Amino acid sequence: MEVGSLLSTRVAKVLRLFAVTTVAAVLAAACSTTNNPSSSGSSGGDKKIALLLPETKTTRYEAQDKPLFEAKVKAVCPDCQILYSNADQKGDVQQNQADAALTNGAKVLVLDPVDSASAAAIAAKAKAKGVPVIAYDRLILNADIDYYISFDNMQVGKLQAQALVDELKSKGKSGSIVMINGAPTDNNAKLFKQGAHSVIDSSGFKIGKEYDTPDWSPDKAQTEMEQAITALGKTGFVGVYAANDGTGGGAIAALKGQGITPLPPVTGQDAELAAVQRVLSGEQFMTVYKAIKPQAEAAAQWAVDLASGKKSDADAMATTKVNNGTKDVLSIILTPIAVTKANAKETVGKMISDGFLKAADICSGAVGTVCTELGIS
Ligand code: BGC
Repeated sequence: MEVGSLLSTRVAKVLRLFAVTTVAAVLAAACSTTNNPSSSGSSGGDKKIALLLPETKTTRYEAQDKPLFEAKVKAVCPDCQILYSNADQKGDVQQNQADAALTNGAKVLVLDPVDSASAAAIAAKAKAKGVPVIAYDRLILNADIDYYISFDNMQVGKLQAQALVDELKSKGKSGSIVMINGAPTDNNAKLFKQGAHSVIDSSGFKIGKEYDTPDWSPDKAQTEMEQAITALGKTGFVGVYAANDGTGGGAIAALKGQGITPLPPVTGQDAELAAVQRVLSGEQFMTVYKAIKPQAEAAAQWAVDLASGKKSDADAMATTKVNNGTKDVLSIILTPIAVTKANAKETVGKMISDGFLKAADICSGAVGTVCTELGIS
């Protein structure tokens, strides 16, 4: 055998081995993510808490919600186990994950539903087994659930739209806004949209085109923005309302792809690292900071209290009630913060002092000079 082909056979073998081990590792990770409670870093006791998150394209779930929830559970309940799953935007997958959690003996479900309406079926199954349900971030509609924790989502939509309208007016603009809303299956998306309309509809700006974005998909948002540009023309709109940073990023990609300069103001939400950098570099007009820590930690405390039979302690943590069509659900509603380049010293500074993002990550590369100018460190 020639050296070259011997080498390539060896290389091929090594590569095959690498591929096999990588696939095995990925599969193991996937299994441990969905099924193996020990992956949560808990010590493996008998109080099982299921955490069911909806998707992975928005960075908050894996980067913030999951680790913060796990850390809090670990701190207050060393003998609790977390059964974690992420449904990757698929409602049927989430149904199966919830079934699996119930079969595996979950004592509490902390559920951020892919579909706020069809998740009622999950809640009903849990109820039938005497397992309490906490609606996490997105409300579960028309179901007998126990608690709900979220942000003031109507207010999120108002903050986004008000910032956009104020910016456009301050620049003397008039005309149309393109609206790129979130997933129609998400109750929050409806609230963001309602909040945004309550501002835009009476602002004097017209709505040139409006879309609901299935799955909150950034790619679909990009296509929607491309369609809006085709329909309205490159100069046929003055601003873009995008419901979160993922959809905002998709819209910005479409605007850049069409060579539109300067970019019109585009909104967002979540204060994802990439979006905060876009806000600082001037590509994205605003985002909304929702501090996930208090949300994840309160949900974790609720779950631990319920798993430990301390329902009255859990009840006492609620600060308000929200009606979900079936009942007034004991709730905690947190306050969102609008973030623009103009208030970044304070708001991005808060993200850094909260431990939400690191200055070194935000201020890396070209954004570094902006951080220096604004005194962000
Ligand atoms: C959350 C947002 C998130 C969106 C997409 C909403 O329910 O409140 O923070 O960007 O879902 O996952």
